[in-house]
Amino acid sequence: MNVSGLSHALGLLLLGAQLGSCSDAATSSPPEQTCSAKTLPLQGRSAIVTGASKGIGKGMARALALRGGASVMLVARTGFALEETAKEIEGDGGHVSFMAGDVSSEADMQRVANSTAERFGGIDILCANAGMFPQTKLESMTASEWDEMMATNLKGTFLSVKTALPFLKSSEQARIVLTSSITGPITGYPGWSHYGASKSGQLGFMRTASIELAKHGITVNAVLPGNVLTEGLSAMGDDYLKGVAASIPLGRVGTVDDIGSAVLFLASKEAGWITGQTLTVDGGQTLPESPEALAEM
Ligand SMILES: NC(=O)c1ccc[n+]([C@@H]2O[C@H](COP(=O)([O-])OP(=O)(O)OC[C@H]3O[C@@H](n4cnc5c(N)ncnc54)[C@H](OP(=O)(O)O)[C@@H]3O)[C@@H](O)[C@H]2O)c1
Repeated sequence: MNVSGLSHALGLLLLGAQLGSCSDAATSSPPEQTCSAKTLPLQGRSAIVTGASKGIGKGMARALALRGGASVMLVARTGFALEETAKEIEGDGGHVSFMAGDVSSEADMQRVANSTAERFGGIDILCANAGMFPQTKLESMTASEWDEMMATNLKGTFLSVKTALPFLKSSEQARIVLTSSITGPITGYPGWSHYGASKSGQLGFMRTASIELAKHGITVNAVLPGNVLTEGLSAMGDDYLKGVAASIPLGRVGTVDDIGSAVLFLASKEAGWITGQTLTVDGGQTLPESPEALAEM
């Protein structure tokens, strides 16, 4: 998919939504309240975001709830962190709920899907985002480290989709967005062979899932974030972050809002004819052929 084309479409979508409904609202008063109530493109939709207590998932939840107007179920394993995030988004005017669950557990994800549908009246959007990225070089990697990575990143993706599916099938605008990565599908990094395999595996899953689910009108796409400043990435340390920022043509690491914006577009009505695609959101990090390409900028 052409990223500049998508960015343009996203810009038009967001701009159009704001301008269109603000002018609609000009006939009624109070204008500000009416405007914001009508402008939100995902008003009346409901979403599940896994890994939503912090980082990219929290950014997605904020985007869907506050910029989209969707009702969002926040999912992660740690209840108190979810509660904090839920309070923060609600304080900013969003409609959210939260539920502790492990994406690698079918029983947990079944509970999450059933409760979301019951609480919000259905499920329209699933962001299968929860993931882990501990580093271990191949020679010292154990089979159980490999299994844990696959259970969270790959099986967790499958279970999140599988358990939400009966509800997504009843939605008129069903969207699945997977969080993959540039690492694996496009690039490699020492210590992340298992991670890269899991993130590439998500794309293999997506391509067949998008064909199988097309008859229900469900789209399945993936965002491929570059290096995004999150609690998880901060743990890599300052040297790593500085090195990465220097390798990005746009000159900075990403923010969770950068990824939230991409998800907002893929979840929108306007993205209804896009399925089985990847959207790389990386500040151009994967573009330079060599360090010299950056030095010559
Ligand atoms: N940050 C980046 O630069 C970057 C780049 C490319 C792709 N990604 C991908 O983006 C996603 C989020 O990354 P992040 O940087 O935001 O990570 P993060 O800051 O470490 O946050 C991870 C989130 O996932 C939850 N989680 C982890 N394991 C889980 C499990 N088994 N079940 C349910 N929830 C689980 C965590 O909460 P609990 O621990 O409480 O469960 C937390 O909410 C991952 O899939 C990652 O691979 C990140």
